[in-house]
Amino acid sequence: MGKIAVIGGTGVCDTRMLTDIREDRLDTFYGPIQYIKGTYKGKEIIFLPRHGKNHSIPPHLINYRANILGLKRLGVTAIFTTTAVGSLNLKFKPNEFVLPHQFIDFTKTRHTSFFDGGENGVVHADMTEPYCRHLQRAVLKAATLLGDYTIHHGGTYVCTEGPRFETPAEIAMFAKWGGDVVGMTNVPEVCLAREAEMCYTTVSMVTNFAAGISAEMLTHAEVLTCMEENSERIRRLLMKAVEI
Ligand code: HPA
Repeated sequence: MGKIAVIGGTGVCDTRMLTDIREDRLDTFYGPIQYIKGTYKGKEIIFLPRHGKNHSIPPHLINYRANILGLKRLGVTAIFTTTAVGSLNLKFKPNEFVLPHQFIDFTKTRHTSFFDGGENGVVHADMTEPYCRHLQRAVLKAATLLGDYTIHHGGTYVCTEGPRFETPAEIAMFAKWGGDVVGMTNVPEVCLAREAEMCYTTVSMVTNFAAGISAEMLTHAEVLTCMEENSERIRRLLMKAVEI
């Protein structure tokens, strides 16, 4: 698998299971990244909390290019990530997990490429298979070994700009267009990893039914509660996948 990094959403980058822990910082062309390096079962692993150490960076302001370039500079070749999502698909329920195989990009203001012309040139990265099937296989195997995980293999992740949640009309449109889950962080992360020629996958944790799918109003508190309840489970799943 090569050198592994975990980009974690809230609560996932818990370093208690690592030894030889070191917090560090790396300056990249796009800005600095702060990461945690450690050893897990003999493997060096890098944790990068996507929203910053104290969850202070909202999805639309994350420096995705610095994060991916920084990991590349550190020699990382495989990236597991976690993403919290709302579900548009009645078969994907809160507290379950999804390994998306496609995405639809509804972000608006983000830098989506390393190739903005100039010195880096113009490159059109292939997105036929944006998520690495080998890493996904490792996650599925980890779920089987651990037992007691409902994990859906396949699905389309719709990435919105955030930080607001969607309107029911938007969700109805995404559902008609084939979306299964909706979140705010997977794009451009997945695209940049592909441009940097790194294996990448995300494990999406369903925290709620999306706006209008559920009869109740969606609140941030509901999402946070579900994430807190499941962060230990997603952590265990990823660390098992890292072992494989
Ligand atoms: N929409 C967007 N992002 C999310 C949601 C949602 O319903 N739940 C968790 N992240």
